[in-house]
Amino acid sequence: MLSTKELSQEIAQRIASLPLPARPAGLYEPVRYALEAGGKRLRPLLCLQACLACGGSAEDAMNAALALEMFHNFTLVHDDIMDGSDTRRGRPSVAARYGSNQAILSGDAMLTLASLLIADVPAAVSASVAAEFNEMALRVYEGQQLDTEFEHRKDVTEDEYFEMISLKTGALLATACRIGAMIAGAPEDTCRALYDYGMELGLAFQLRDDWLDTFGDAATFGKPIGGDIINEKETWMLITARRDSYGELDAILAEDLEPEEKIMQVTRLFNRLEVGERCDAAAATHHAKALAALDRAELKAPECKDFFVETVNRMASRSI
Ligand code: IPE
Ligand code: IPE
Ligand code: MG
Ligand code: MG
Ligand code: MG
Repeated sequence: MLSTKELSQEIAQRIASLPLPARPAGLYEPVRYALEAGGKRLRPLLCLQACLACGGSAEDAMNAALALEMFHNFTLVHDDIMDGSDTRRGRPSVAARYGSNQAILSGDAMLTLASLLIADVPAAVSASVAAEFNEMALRVYEGQQLDTEFEHRKDVTEDEYFEMISLKTGALLATACRIGAMIAGAPEDTCRALYDYGMELGLAFQLRDDWLDTFGDAATFGKPIGGDIINEKETWMLITARRDSYGELDAILAEDLEPEEKIMQVTRLFNRLEVGERCDAAAATHHAKALAALDRAELKAPECKDFFVETVNRMASRSI
């Protein structure tokens, strides 16, 4: 059986050898640039491991895994335009490096390349896998739209926050697991259990991402610290601080502060209210739910369960 490290290497190698047209270079170079930067490759790993866990082969799920990683990178290219982020994975974002017009088009190309890859899975499941993939894609756009709308609201509830992150982040992790299981021919109950696992993992994952955006180390996280505060992203921490600070948060946000000052003042308030610690605790409840969902999956290769448990544990304390 292939180890997670070997699967990661295989994914990296397959990505590096994807046959992309050479011209126009302005379209395809940014695609290579985005993909070669690596990242954790979490979504393709979830897909391959779900397929293996349900008795399928890594090879059968490989194109789906690549499609999911391609789609993920497409969303990041466009997300960095939307969020005005110049840095991704410790280097200039595609938009910062090539400009937003090229970033939009290269992102479009990545979405289409992902569609071509997802169509190339074992014939018995290709229609149902494509349907899952397209449903997921719509959910991600819906989540990204809500995320943007929330920047202009000051009354976003915790429930609305969780709905938004379940769409923008949870859906992709959940679908990665589900598609892997579907390719292995797993029964619906197990596909559903692995989907639920991925969804709960995704909620915890985004809570941690939001935490790292304020409390992480830019050098390891690979993204600048404080971007969410500057953009007034309605994160769990911001919503909680607003509720618990009786007007103090909104008073800070209403001031015309320099970015560094705004980050400092909001972070100080977060610290005083201990919202960082509380955010961690909120993530922990979703980690527990992920493990409970995993227990509902009937795995044909139970030894694969370790990967899913380790992933939850690793993501809980991740700094990248
Ligand atoms: C970043 O995802 C986008 C979010 C959902 C927070 P990852 O943190 O998985 O990004 P990479 O692929 O590892 O860089
Ligand atoms: C998740 O949100 C992005 C997508 C689902 C595409 P963020 O905007 O927080 O992601 P990062 O922090 O830029 O990676
Ligand atoms: Mg965003
Ligand atoms: Mg972003
Ligand atoms: Mg973020």
